[in-house]
Amino acid sequence: MRCLLSLGALYLLASSALAVPLDKRSATKSFAGGNNYYAAALPSSEWETLFSGMQGAGMKVLRAWIGHQDASQKGSDSSYMPDLEENGIGQYNDQILKAFDAMMLVAHKYDIKILLTMHSFNALQANDAYGKIYGTGYFYEESAATTQFDARLSHILNHNHTTLGKPWKELKDYFFAVEAENEAMIGKGADYIAAHASWQCDRAKTIKGILGDNSGILVTTGGESWVSESMQPAYFSCEYLDMVSVHGYGDELSSIPAAVQTAKNAGKKLLFEEWGICYNTNSNNDCPSGGSVNSNRDSEIAQWSSAMNSAGLPWLYWQFLTNPDPHQDWDYEIQVGGDNWSAIKSASQAAANSTCAFDFSGYIN
Ligand SMILES: *[C@@H]1O[C@H](CO)[C@@H](O)[C@H](O)[C@H]1NC(C)=O
Ligand SMILES: *[C@@H]1O[C@H](CO)[C@@H](O)[C@H](O)[C@H]1NC(C)=O
Ligand SMILES: *[C@@H]1O[C@H](CO)[C@@H](O)[C@H](O)[C@H]1NC(C)=O
Repeated sequence: MRCLLSLGALYLLASSALAVPLDKRSATKSFAGGNNYYAAALPSSEWETLFSGMQGAGMKVLRAWIGHQDASQKGSDSSYMPDLEENGIGQYNDQILKAFDAMMLVAHKYDIKILLTMHSFNALQANDAYGKIYGTGYFYEESAATTQFDARLSHILNHNHTTLGKPWKELKDYFFAVEAENEAMIGKGADYIAAHASWQCDRAKTIKGILGDNSGILVTTGGESWVSESMQPAYFSCEYLDMVSVHGYGDELSSIPAAVQTAKNAGKKLLFEEWGICYNTNSNNDCPSGGSVNSNRDSEIAQWSSAMNSAGLPWLYWQFLTNPDPHQDWDYEIQVGGDNWSAIKSASQAAANSTCAFDFSGYIN
């Protein structure tokens, strides 16, 4: 990176025609952000809380999903939100896309971009329109399923923004990256994921075909259960994937430098798209609610984030709430501005001060 910067400086001296704005060159720094999978279902006042808090912590990206949401997720004031295909495959209900339209305007006001997840394994497993017909296996195997699913991806990316009047595929100032599915195939096991890794590349081909080659929006994978499972060799050789997303909640920090190097060697970007520290003293990859409170949480946040920051790997925390944490289910959540937020904020500011292993110029604000 140092070499690239001085080369850039040389060009600036040599030719004013090649003048790169100084603020763009700061994109060689790393960055942080977070997840909230049901963010589109939150009321607008909570979007303000979420995105202003994230901006105040120097964050750049929020990852959110398209899918059915029950009301009051994690104790929030979120509304019931039907999936795009709540009533059946191909019977599109654009309510959730319109909710994203409104949300992304608020995000943009705070210089946050959206990482858009267009489906989830969770929904498939919970018998959504695809799960009912194909279950969790044939969905990845039958050409009828992939044709129908590709039509969903196309419907989403061609959705005309309600007020901006442009299709999402042209909104690079609002979308950082897109991915077909959260944690595709994870319930099927590591061998199945490896055997069907081409599903991911085929979906990326569909997405790239819709976006075109110069969309300014990255195409990524949506992660798997842990770092090595998220790093399928077939993802790194897939020409349609710009970035590989890894998820990990176990003790995987020592594998980060090698993972970054693997991505660099393949000419791909890498993102630690999901990690979290338990509120309780359970291990991070097995974190049901209950048990005693983890009094080392702040220092574990610092330990994890510094492993990523020192490797130049951008990261998204799982996940941020806009209300006090009700301590439900697997309990990684942190309220924006609440307990442990100051540790997250320091970690994010340190990310913004770290040299990135990848060049995200133009992709983040
Ligand atoms: C989006 O708007 C453009 C221009 O108004 C129109 O040509 C196009 O058909 C619209 N696309 C969809 C999917 O509605
Ligand atoms: C961080 O969270 C833990 C609970 O997981 C709590 O014991 C601790 O006091 C919190 N630290 C701060 C600074 O809020
Ligand atoms: C970021 O870097 C600046 C300049 O070197 C320094 O003043 C600041 O304390 C650093 N912030 C963090 C959170 O590391």
